[in-house]
Amino acid sequence: MRIGILGSGSGSNLQAIIDAIEAGTLDATLALVLSDVPDAFILERARRHGIPTGVIDCHGFKTKFPLESQFQTAADLKSADCDLICLAGFMRLVKDPLLKAFPQSILNIHPSLLPAFPGIAAWRQALDAGVSETGCTVHHVDAGMDTGPILLQAKVPILADDTAESLHARIQVEEHRLYPEAIRLLLKQRVH
Ligand code: GRF
Repeated sequence: MRIGILGSGSGSNLQAIIDAIEAGTLDATLALVLSDVPDAFILERARRHGIPTGVIDCHGFKTKFPLESQFQTAADLKSADCDLICLAGFMRLVKDPLLKAFPQSILNIHPSLLPAFPGIAAWRQALDAGVSETGCTVHHVDAGMDTGPILLQAKVPILADDTAESLHARIQVEEHRLYPEAIRLLLKQRVH
């Protein structure tokens, strides 16, 4: 399986996937890492491991993912022979040009037990809501925000003295275990 990654930030989930591949526990190749943020650390992590990178030109739009950019991104991922796309901290909504180019083949990781707390800073939403546990979810991507069929989830308890930072850090530990596991599961599902 050849994986393409889209991310906007630090890329710790990319790192977890790299580590799993290098440890021989995930049978996949990272074919291309693309970011809409030219100086995002996710690109640096990819370069350090010899993974091809590219920058997505969003034509100056802050949050929108313009259709031309989505067509270009789909073409770049196809040229790199990707057959699975993993969103890893990618901050723009993916729509038809990309969804149609990779049907049933785009995953996202989100820091809550979806369908609870979709959207931004989900760990803070959970803390503010006063719930006793939250977690993370790997799901198939559709045109909605953090909707789409769920592949795997992991729970994280919320502790009495948790801050937004401490909770997010504990969720990320689970994310780094869950994303490679979800990709492994998808591989198995495809084989069967
Ligand atoms: C993660 O918490 C992920 O769930 C969310 O964005 C964050 C990305 O972190 N979608 P990183 O860039 O992988 O470190």
